[in-house]
Order: sequence, then C-alpha cells, then structure tokens
Amino acid sequence: MPDGTVSQDWASKLSVVSESFESGRGLPPTCYTDPAFHAAEIDRIFRREWLCLGREDEMPAPGDYLSLDLLGDPLVMLRDGDGALRVLSRVCRHRSMPVIEGRGNTKTLVCPYHHWAYGLDGRLVGAPEMGKTPGFDAKTICLPEIRHEIWEGFVFINFDSDTAPLGPQLRGVSRLLANYRLSELRTVRSLPFDIECRWNWKLMCDNFIEPYHHVGVHLKSLEPSLPARLSEIVESDGPWTMVHMRYRKGRSPEEAPDPDAPALPPFPGADALQRRTFTLLHIFPNLLVSFFTDHMQFYRLFPEGPDRVHMEKLFCYPPEAMALPQFEDTVEHNERSFIEFRDEDIDAVLVLQQAYRSRHAQPGVFSHLERPIWDFARWIADRMERV
Ligand code: FES
Ligand SMILES: [Fe+2]
Repeated sequence: MPDGTVSQDWASKLSVVSESFESGRGLPPTCYTDPAFHAAEIDRIFRREWLCLGREDEMPAPGDYLSLDLLGDPLVMLRDGDGALRVLSRVCRHRSMPVIEGRGNTKTLVCPYHHWAYGLDGRLVGAPEMGKTPGFDAKTICLPEIRHEIWEGFVFINFDSDTAPLGPQLRGVSRLLANYRLSELRTVRSLPFDIECRWNWKLMCDNFIEPYHHVGVHLKSLEPSLPARLSEIVESDGPWTMVHMRYRKGRSPEEAPDPDAPALPPFPGADALQRRTFTLLHIFPNLLVSFFTDHMQFYRLFPEGPDRVHMEKLFCYPPEAMALPQFEDTVEHNERSFIEFRDEDIDAVLVLQQAYRSRHAQPGVFSHLERPIWDFARWIADRMERV
C-alpha cells in the first residue's frame, strides 16, 4: 500500500475525532464503507497489531487443531506433540493448497494435493516423488509460523515482529478481571453466525461496547434489568475499553433467577458488586468479550471487506459450573437468549451500514455513555495517520 498521500487524505478526514472526548466525534461514516479506507486499515492495523484468534483451550490436547481464515490468509492454530500452542500458515510450500481444513486431531498435516506431509511443528516430514528433484532438501522446508502470545487464555497473533508485546499493555485489564480467573475458563460452545454479516467490523465493535442503545434497540429486552443510565465507563490505560453495566436493584440473575433456566452460581471468585454486574470489554482491534455473572462470551471477529465481517460467538464457563446437573440446560438457554439480543443488534447494524452511505451521514456528538466508541475511534485514527 503506497503511504504518504493516503495518509494525508485520511489525516484531514480523521481530524474530526479530535484530541479530546469533549470536542471529539466518531469516525466519519466513509471509514465504514470505503474500500480504500479498508485496504489502508488492513495495512496499518491488521498487519501490525495484535489480533485475537480464539482461546487456547479450544485445542486442549496434542494434535488438536483449528483452521481459520484471517484476511484471506489460511491459518491453523494447533497444539504440537510437546503440548505447545502454535499458529502456522496452512498454505502448502509446494503449490499452495491449504494443507488442512476444519478442526480435529491429527499427528501430521498432509496436503491433499500431492501428499506432502508436515509435522505439528510445521516441518516437512514427507514428500512423495521428490527424490529426483535437484537440490530438494525436505529439512529446509517448513510452514511459516506466526508470532503469537497468550493473554488470559486468549490467543493473539501478530504479523509484525517489531510490535511491542501485548501482555504489558493489558495489565490493567488483568487486574480488573482477576476474580474471573479467565485463563481457567473452558470454551464449551461455538456458534457461527447463520446469516450473512454484511456490515463493517467497526460497526459491530461500536454497537457492542456502548450501553446507550439499551434505551432504544433493547428497550424491552435489556433496559428493564440493565438500564443504560446505571452503566459505568472504566478509565482505560491501554488499547482497550470496558463498561460495567449494573443490574437494577432486585433484577440480577441471583436475585431474580430466570424461571425458564436453572441458574448457575456466579463466578466462584466474583465479589458482591460483580455478582450484579454485566461487563463489556473491547480489546482493540478485534476482541469483544462479555462477562455475565456466571459465564463469559466472546466474538471471533475478522473483517472480510469494508461491508462484510466473519462473526462467531463462543461461550466459556468456569470449570466448577460444568459439573453441575443444570449445566447443559443453562448452556442451551444462554445460546437461545444470545440469539434473541443478537438479532436486535443485527437489525440495527444492517440498517446503519446502509445509512452510513448517505451523503448526509456525519458523525454526531456523543453521549457520555459513548466514550468507549470515541476511545476506539481515537486509536484507529492514530494508526491510520501513521506512515
Ligand atoms: S500443493 Fe501441497 S503437496 Fe502439492
Ligand atoms: Fe446491543
């Protein structure tokens, strides 16, 4: 991507975000629709920042693997024979066929095209009919490994070897969420979206993190128990935002259990306030996590174009809860109620994606409840302005 000129153009458009929340606006609507902005965003954000791929516990045993496509790049997260997690390119070093698909357990990655076989460390261990090729040396051939870091059980990758480590940037989040013992949680359900997600990835992030829309989109579903005005925006010291939504008095799951679903106990380590709080966390750019009083949900979210995003919802529970007799029923119930709220949000973001194309669309002034959107816009603008 040629820099310089693109950078100049975006710098003037992004100046509306401003240096302070008080005078700032959101990203211009064109940032959610323009293919040129999207291309620059891939170059300046997705090729340089830490991107969440999922949870380490999705591959618990040696040989477990999960194939993913990130920005058109076929990758595989796997656990090697020594139990170490690795993220490899799954593009064959022979003629580029993806060497594995889907998820499962395997001892080797065997390319379906000509059966070149790779070990779980990515090294080529077999290649039929290659003995007569001058200079062919299997020992020198390896699937490229992508730099990764594990934070609280989440797997992050980075395509840039110069980017600073992620962990130190998230110390504040670790401290705030220590009671949930995140690294011990187990991912028990993954729900790919069964609809076409034809909206910009940032629109999903904006809609996810701000509690303000409870007074509109979720007026009947969420606002009665989690009113927008009881939300508390956490002061952030890194590439993240967090919102605590307090249950109305007497309306927390503990105080008013849902008659349709046997409740699980709250997170074993949760304090009194956390037992009546629903917390939202956005780690920039692509990790969106929600903490209910008894379990965690997060989105696997990868952009697929200016107006298309891959979305999958994952459900994680404390190991203690999994032994309880009502566990399976509760998991089912939580999935159903997620779909109900999701559909309210989706109706909104689909319409917004269209409206952002209007000549009259412009970033309006913010409510104090939308501070996290501005924090994210500021973070995006900083990265888009750099060369
Ligand atoms: S492309 Fe993989 S073995 Fe030929
Ligand atoms: Fe919502």
